[in-house]
Amino acid sequence: MPVNPRLERLADNPFSKLRELFDGVQPRSNEPVLPWAVGEPQHAPPPMLAQILAEKAEFWNRYPPPAGTPEYRAACAGWLTRRYRLPAGMVDPDRNVMIVNGTKEALFLCPQMAVPQEKAGRVPTVLLPNPYYNVYNAGAIFAGAEPVYLDCTKETGFLPDLDAIPAETLERCALFYLCNPANPQGAIADLDYLKKAIKLARAYDFVLLADECYSEVYQRREPPGALQACAELGGSLDHVLVFHSLSKRSNAAGLRCGFVAGDPHLIERFSHLRSYAGAAVPVPIQEAAVALWNDEAHVDANRVLYRRKFDIAQNYLEGKFGFYRPEGGFFLWLDVEDGEKAALTLWRDAGIRTLPGAYTARANPGSANPGQRFIRVALVHDDATIEAGMKRLLRALT
Ligand SMILES: Cc1ncc(COP(=O)(O)O)c(C=O)c1O
Repeated sequence: MPVNPRLERLADNPFSKLRELFDGVQPRSNEPVLPWAVGEPQHAPPPMLAQILAEKAEFWNRYPPPAGTPEYRAACAGWLTRRYRLPAGMVDPDRNVMIVNGTKEALFLCPQMAVPQEKAGRVPTVLLPNPYYNVYNAGAIFAGAEPVYLDCTKETGFLPDLDAIPAETLERCALFYLCNPANPQGAIADLDYLKKAIKLARAYDFVLLADECYSEVYQRREPPGALQACAELGGSLDHVLVFHSLSKRSNAAGLRCGFVAGDPHLIERFSHLRSYAGAAVPVPIQEAAVALWNDEAHVDANRVLYRRKFDIAQNYLEGKFGFYRPEGGFFLWLDVEDGEKAALTLWRDAGIRTLPGAYTARANPGSANPGQRFIRVALVHDDATIEAGMKRLLRALT
């Protein structure tokens, strides 16, 4: 039966590779298994979430407005304006914001909207950080683009080196995924970096897609956002889209709710595509999400909990495995020399699931896979579990 051959090229799901690695291997100890490979928040969502869903149950019979209720879009615009200290009116809820059912699917769909058949007479490129969230790569491949993997190493500050991208690649570029803070390394792009990326997008006429879903989980300084950089550049949102989610900010990964904001022409086209290809978000969910975007107390409390987890990790890992406290996000990115070997050892000898860094990245011709030496550890469980897990990790790896 004929199938889309591009489907065959989607073969980089890190969790499928992890299942293969652990196939037939059982942990030796009978200690409880620690699922530290998946970046799933474990803190409880704020109680208002369930309460509002129950209060608004009457709306389950309604077809939701595909671009979001006016109240939802206003809450998102208000949050962006407060969080990034944007000039009033810079983000118009009607022209610059659309709802999405979590950001994953929208990240996949965005290149289906933004990639033309050809650019500069050739196959368009989509730029992504390497390591990368695998949905970026899938979205690029399905749109018929050539994915270009920009190595993010310690030497590049774990962000793509904007100066190293060849002009020919930029000329063909249709879309650039920038993950800020970066998953997995937790690096934060500063405002100068963001301004430079926006200028490149405008000069070479491509979409800068800033995936800011970890923006609210940070250690010391608030990560700046791409819209803040737009404000500093004069206020135009041209060529820029930011993606935000309640999954990590509000521990509501199951709610499937986020938004995309930015360039009004892109929002219009993306809404058009989503009106065919995207699931609308139910009204009770939108009602609860309005309250979540309007509340910062639960987000502040969440950050305190994450900082404590990094305190515990630091106590055990300081000076080992290239430990550093990531500026943002909730992952440890540990240099264990051979990430696959270490992940297997941790699973077999300590019952801890971690993700080999190589599974989130790929080797460019002539270079090593930038994730090869690393494991990614999701620091999402309670303090006592992390404490016990750190002891098990050290026992197994040293
Ligand atoms: C970098 C990155 N972007 C986007 C997402 C998608 O999040 P959601 O679909 O829950 O909004 C994730 C999820 O883990 C992620 O790690």
